[in-house]
Amino acid sequence: MTDTRAGGVAATAGWTAAARAAETARPDALFRDDLAAALAGPEGAARYERYANPGTSEFLAVRTRYLDEAIAAHPHLAQVVLVAAGLDARAARLDWPAGTVLYEIDRPALLAAKDARLAELGARPRCDRRAVGADLAGDWRAPLAAAGWDAAAPTLWIVEGLLFYLPEDAARTLLADLATASAPGSVLAGDLLSHQSMVSEFTRDGLGRLREDGCPWLWGSDEPEEVLTTAGWRGPDVRTPGEEGASFGRWPWPPLPRGTLGLPVNYLFTATV
Ligand SMILES: C[S@@+](CC[C@H](N)C(=O)[O-])C[C@H]1O[C@@H](n2cnc3c(N)ncnc32)[C@H](O)[C@@H]1O
Repeated sequence: MTDTRAGGVAATAGWTAAARAAETARPDALFRDDLAAALAGPEGAARYERYANPGTSEFLAVRTRYLDEAIAAHPHLAQVVLVAAGLDARAARLDWPAGTVLYEIDRPALLAAKDARLAELGARPRCDRRAVGADLAGDWRAPLAAAGWDAAAPTLWIVEGLLFYLPEDAARTLLADLATASAPGSVLAGDLLSHQSMVSEFTRDGLGRLREDGCPWLWGSDEPEEVLTTAGWRGPDVRTPGEEGASFGRWPWPPLPRGTLGLPVNYLFTATV
């Protein structure tokens, strides 16, 4: 994947694809992604090793499964957008209801390299997959509409592994713009980083490696409900790993109580407009 070799935040797509490949290799895998290893390549696998931290592989597996289940829970939403799709292979690996259109937004160069690799691998989408090259900190709505997205129909938005790579202002603006763009009945599902993850002694080395590689985590919040409701999302259901619906037998620790200081935590969420 040329684009991931270029470094920066696009390269993190190789990291998370390698994490899905590692999960797929387990006998008790929470999901199967048979394209992940080839999409991640050696560069992605190297990053997976480099960023290994206690809880990281567990969290990435739980996050993927949580969002797979969020997708499965909304089969009536025939318009799905992967906001920062990276090397996600859900188009090929999920059993989509007939008529589903799946839009994948990410950097144009990453999507071009991904499309080329998918063609080499003979991968076949099981839905109408449409790649949309756009800057999520800029105008993504016009390219999405040009690809056929219908603003009048409800959308399932999946924001996985993105928000903490954007400056906080841009991330909050994106969340608000997604809410504004959403027809009634739309759903948002994704993940957020806690502020504790940014300041914990347990993430200091990992954060340093991400900074060195030009893809630093930029922000987190200990008030995920506030982030979502301020952006216009209603009724956020927020879970931490280990809680019911966010464990799947993979998370080996009890969930951290809200307000715990000094320990990193991630949030998985689903919300509506
Ligand atoms: C950690 S990866 C996550 C990819 C995928 N959702 C997953 O979970 O494997 C972060 C992705 O965000 C994309 N990204 C970051 N900033 C972006 C921006 N401003 N516009 C478009 N894509 C962006 C990167 O190219 C990368 O693919």
